[in-house]
Amino acid sequence: MRVIMLAPPGAGKGTQGERISARYDVPHISSGEIFREETARQTPLGRQMSGYLERGDLVPDDLVLSLIKDRVVAAAKESGGYVLDGFPRTLEQAEAAAGIGRETSTSAQAVVYLDAPTEVLISRLTGRGENRTDDSEAVARHRLAVYAEHTQPLVGYYAARGILVKIDASVPVDEVSQQIFTALDRVKD
Ligand code: AP5
Repeated sequence: MRVIMLAPPGAGKGTQGERISARYDVPHISSGEIFREETARQTPLGRQMSGYLERGDLVPDDLVLSLIKDRVVAAAKESGGYVLDGFPRTLEQAEAAAGIGRETSTSAQAVVYLDAPTEVLISRLTGRGENRTDDSEAVARHRLAVYAEHTQPLVGYYAARGILVKIDASVPVDEVSQQIFTALDRVKD
């Protein structure tokens, strides 16, 4: 199973990404987790990224690809699939991902789009309690604005390719999972 998760901050990409990973036995690749680890370890790339993460801005595409591309290809080759959480996030990243998919015959089969109202998202982010510096209300609202400008256009991009699955993510976690599994169980390998 090769799945991309597309959703605003707080919609549940991480929560549902883990569940998809467990159900279909494919690696869960979270760009945000990878970047936070790089930043915490103070690697050269991590040091370049930390300001973007703190402000809630997008990390530049070239840095993103340098950390994500090989992991996606390896997951698809070694495990037969992936669930991508947080990548792609711009049209440029989506084009790059499509190119990687074509070159390696590992194109995504479905894009799970989690949709929920803004105030639900803000309440989840500010109430998460994980000590993420980007979960303050001001930065959370900025992340949502960045999402609206740069990532929301991918909804149309993937809908035009016929692989978008829209999910109501405002309901309880188990109900969201059930909607996702019902849709993904119909996807043929
Ligand atoms: P990233 O880590 O991807 O953060 P995000 O998109 O802002 O998403 P979150 O992790 O905050 O939310 P989520 O959708 O995963 O929700 P979750 O399951 O945790 O990115 C962080 C930063 O990294 C970006 O701002 C950017 O700087 C950089 N970055 C990452 N990828 C990039 C890329 N490709 N290009 C450029 N920059 C990039 O759930 C949230 C909370 O809600 C939890 O407490 C959860 O328990 C709860 N919850 C979840 N679902 C439900 C439900 N159905 N009902 C009730 N509560 C729920």
